[in-house]
Amino acid sequence: MKTIVFATGNSGKMREIREILKDLPCRVLSIKEAGIRADADENGATFAENAMIKAKAAAAAVPGSGLDPKETIVLADDSGLEIDALGKEPGVRSARYMGRDTSYHVKNAELIRRLEGVPADRRTARFVCEIAAVLPDGDSFTVRGAIEGKIGYEERGENGFGYDPIFYLPDMSRTTAELPMDEKNKISHRGAALRAVRKELMKRGIL
Ligand code: IMP
Repeated sequence: MKTIVFATGNSGKMREIREILKDLPCRVLSIKEAGIRADADENGATFAENAMIKAKAAAAAVPGSGLDPKETIVLADDSGLEIDALGKEPGVRSARYMGRDTSYHVKNAELIRRLEGVPADRRTARFVCEIAAVLPDGDSFTVRGAIEGKIGYEERGENGFGYDPIFYLPDMSRTTAELPMDEKNKISHRGAALRAVRKELMKRGIL
């Protein structure tokens, strides 16, 4: 049976990927469950580059882990928020923006301040998630998922994390922090990227 290793320590992401791949004949392990330690420098210029850096670092550690490299697929993701009026900032720096230890309450307030005077039709933004896959034969690919929205004028909602309270979905008249988790997962950038990875792995006959 094939094993998918997802290179993340985030239990929310693991829950989402297990849910989306649950009907496939493979087991899904986090990097920790797989006994892999891989430190990667996320210094890429794009989400896809960073996802690939993480996936390749983890894949390089598979041979010493006890897993069979011929049966193991390694996935990693990178995600963030692109705001068009700010030249796609914070982009690949989303987690590091204003410092990793700065609260999102402060980061969100600063982004709203930087958009002062920007009219609604130019407050467009998107959450992007790229997932990189490294296959047993060493081949690799990336897929992308995105969700379009607008930056609001104040924080709204208690669900989600990060930039969710300022990411407004005009069609739903709510921020992603006002959506229940299962509703957000159905439309999220990460959910879209996970479904795309699943489709590509099946198309290539890997799963
Ligand atoms: P990473 O992909 O885990 O490195 O996450 C990158 C950063 O992007 C997070 O720390 C958040 O700041 C932001 N981000 C990514 N996805 C979301 C989301 O669904 N909601 C809010 N913020 C997000």
